[in-house]
Formats: sequence, C-alpha cells, structure tokens
Amino acid sequence: MRIDIITVSPELIKSPFEHSIIKRSIDKKLVEVHFHDLRKYALNKYGKIDDYQFGGGAGMVLMIEPIDKCISQLFSQRKYDEVIYMTPDAKTLNQKTANKLSSAKNIIILTGHYKGVDQRVRDKFITKEISIGDYVLSGGELAAAVLCDAIIRLIPGVLGDETSALTDSFQDDLLAPPVYTRPSEYDNMKVPEILLSGNFPKIEQWRHDEAVNRTKKIRPDLLNTNED
Ligand code: ADE
Repeated sequence: MRIDIITVSPELIKSPFEHSIIKRSIDKKLVEVHFHDLRKYALNKYGKIDDYQFGGGAGMVLMIEPIDKCISQLFSQRKYDEVIYMTPDAKTLNQKTANKLSSAKNIIILTGHYKGVDQRVRDKFITKEISIGDYVLSGGELAAAVLCDAIIRLIPGVLGDETSALTDSFQDDLLAPPVYTRPSEYDNMKVPEILLSGNFPKIEQWRHDEAVNRTKKIRPDLLNTNED
C-alpha cells in the first residue's frame, strides 16, 4: 500500500511513522508513506496557501490552487483508490472503514488546517471524508496519523500474530473482553478461574459473554447499529 499525505505541517505528522509497528511495516516495505508539504505548491514565493473566507467570518481557508497542483501531480503518476479529507464535519471513523481502506493500493490523505479547505476542493477531488471524533483538533495531521495507524496495522504481515488484529475491539462490533497475565493472584485479586482451566471452548464462550456485557454497559450503541 502507498499513502500520500498532503499537509501544511509535515513535521507534525512524521513522528508516529518513525516508531514501533508502523515503522517496522515501512521497513518491511508493506507500506510506503510519502509526505507532501502544501507550501511547495504555494501561489507565491511567500508560501501563500490560504486566504480569508468569502462572505466574512473568522479563520483562514486553504485555497484550491495549491491543493489542485499537488493532487494533479500525484494523479499523473498513479491511480488512487481514495482521496480522503480529514475533517470534523464528516462521518466518524470506525473499524469497518479501517478494514475496507486497509485493502486499498494507493490512497491520498489531505489534512485540513485553520477553517478547512475551499469547498471546491471537496467537490472536485475528495472521495471520502473522515472525522476521528466529535471534537475539533487544531489541524487534520493528528487525525491522519490516527487513520493511518488504524489502517496499517490491518495490512497482512504487519502484526506478527495475524489473529491479534482480528480479536481487537470492534472487529465484531463488540468491545474486547478483559485480559490477564501473571501472577494469577495479586493483592487478593484473582484471575477468573475459567482462564486457568485449559478448557478452550469454555474460555471462548466466557470471552464472548464478557465482551457482550462490557459493550452493553459502556457502548450499547454498538449493539444497535450496522452502519458504516
Ligand atoms: N481536523 C480537526 N478536527 C478533526 C477531527 N475531529 N477529525 C478529523 N480531522 C479533524
């Protein structure tokens, strides 16, 4: 998979790609990530990429021209499955979307800043808009890093133990059940007997029941929806 990230702050977003699982997946060539500094496509030598909104109102808006130049250059080099715009005014990211995107070959992620981008960018280029939650960040860079992490860990070969992504929270619309490790007793707190029993069908049933209980308690909304 190849991911092209268009941003006004490349330095802000690079760090998560330089550590741990994501770094290893890049080293193993399972994924390529390229950062494009929007200022390189600026309108003038002062790096102009934004302007005031028509109609008045606080906050600068990213202009269409630099973004068009950057995306058009990428389009001339390869075909893209999706051009994603990170913005709070979109559908919220969930595991289903991450699963779908993890099988894409090439994607572009555009991160917004200030008041966002000129609507015509969204109309002309964007195939998918994603929010990472109902709150507003200073820019889309951290949101893009979250999206990339959620996608990359699902690419086959990225996680050592293939099953571990499949048993994550949300893969079956349930939160994950509790997990325990040694010691089996600590400060009078005991690991549930069943987990020490070696009876794997029963353990699976217990885990499922715990997952359902936890979901009912904390995220009952997950049980009532099949939405994307
Ligand atoms: N940019 C600013 N806030 C955001 C959010 N919640 N999700 C995605 N992009 C954003």
